[in-house]
Amino acid sequence: MKLWGGRFTKEENQLVHNFNESISFDQKFYRQDIAGSIAHVTMLAKQGILTEEDRDAIIAGLKSIREDIDNGTLKITTESEDIHSFVEANLIERIGDAGKRLHTGRSRNDQVALDMKLYTRDEIDETDALLKGLLEVLLKLMEDNLHTYMPGFTHLQKAQPVTLAHHVGAYYEMFRRDRGRLADIRKRMNYCPLGSGALAGTTYPLDREYTAELLDFDGPTLNSMDSVSDRDYLIELLAALSTIAMHLSRFSEEIIIWNSNEYRFVEMDDSYSTGSSIMPQKKNPDIAELIRGKAGRVYGALMSMLTVMKGIPLAYDKDLQEDKELTFDAIDTVKGCLLLFTGMVSTMTFRKDVMETSAKNGFTNATDAADYLVNHGVPFRDAHGIIGQLVLLCINENKALDDLTLEQFKSISPVFEEDIYDAISMKTCVEKRVTIGAPGAEAMKKVIEVYKKELNA
Ligand code: ARG
Repeated sequence: MKLWGGRFTKEENQLVHNFNESISFDQKFYRQDIAGSIAHVTMLAKQGILTEEDRDAIIAGLKSIREDIDNGTLKITTESEDIHSFVEANLIERIGDAGKRLHTGRSRNDQVALDMKLYTRDEIDETDALLKGLLEVLLKLMEDNLHTYMPGFTHLQKAQPVTLAHHVGAYYEMFRRDRGRLADIRKRMNYCPLGSGALAGTTYPLDREYTAELLDFDGPTLNSMDSVSDRDYLIELLAALSTIAMHLSRFSEEIIIWNSNEYRFVEMDDSYSTGSSIMPQKKNPDIAELIRGKAGRVYGALMSMLTVMKGIPLAYDKDLQEDKELTFDAIDTVKGCLLLFTGMVSTMTFRKDVMETSAKNGFTNATDAADYLVNHGVPFRDAHGIIGQLVLLCINENKALDDLTLEQFKSISPVFEEDIYDAISMKTCVEKRVTIGAPGAEAMKKVIEVYKKELNA
């Protein structure tokens, strides 16, 4: 099973094998490893480095290996050091001598660099599809709630009224940028390292452009030493995944607050909630809490990867093998979180009446009351003071601004007239805010149009 026994006189120590092996985790990309090998031998034959018969035998052998792993008849065992050795040994077993020619003009260093790129590229696409699914759910929520009023907060204190559409829209922007980040990374990483050899290229007349094309890359990488040791794209990906996890955590935190007995803005669906073993009344938001918690391990992967890379002399060093488990775990974690979060949000009930009542109580229209005075010639700083006094009056009488009589308004400033009630109504407060990016439905509709076009592009 070994690829390198020739110059050794002793058997490998079992503990060394266990410590060194990567097949227990790099078997995750056996399909990418096989795809890379098929492209490699296709190119070798085109260049006359391999005969067409050998090429065909190798490709047929590789395809049969893939099929057998797919359907479970071929079990991947940890006797091999890594997936590359496993596939090659199995190929030789199946087709004999032709299989021994597969590794011509290739090193495991450029091979693993390729496999990891192919694997993460697929995962970037899958993560992007999940993000898109989430955006679709959020967009629907926005369209349905253009006039669902709720308090907007700063310092977790009621500030000004907004709509549920507008609040959800803030997260839409975050996840939209996350997609942009993934697209940037994909574009930058999409160059093929195959043909870089161990570190210094090869003397075979490889056609690297052709291999790159066969594997849907934008071209070959331009420095063979960098190619076998570059893991920048993983750091970028882990940073992007950390940002997605952070956004999911932040939204989860809000949902946990909204779902609390005190807020009751939302109710989690039973199918996305859990109970208590002792307290019969409990219905807990465990899924949102887990998503919030899992951000920690994704950040951990980013920190680990940065640390692994900081002391690696050119070119390939075995430290690089540490990239895999970290990255796989971060990807799987974020994909799982996206899937669960999307399901949770799309099954949640929004208590629009509770949100609106909350928006009405808490002086979220105080700024608009001050603006009313400004529109009647009062300088803003004076208006601020006048409304402050009115708020104090309301607090003492346990009332909202809207509940004051005109006489009470006038007792603090003679400028107030009957139209103050309309000026500070929830409807006016929200719907008057129509500059682009603001919560007014007219502004939101324009933004939603932009999102729709983008999602369908
Ligand atoms: N398992 C190794 C890795 O993940 C594959 C490359 C091994 N190359 C070597 N020269 N030992 O990096």
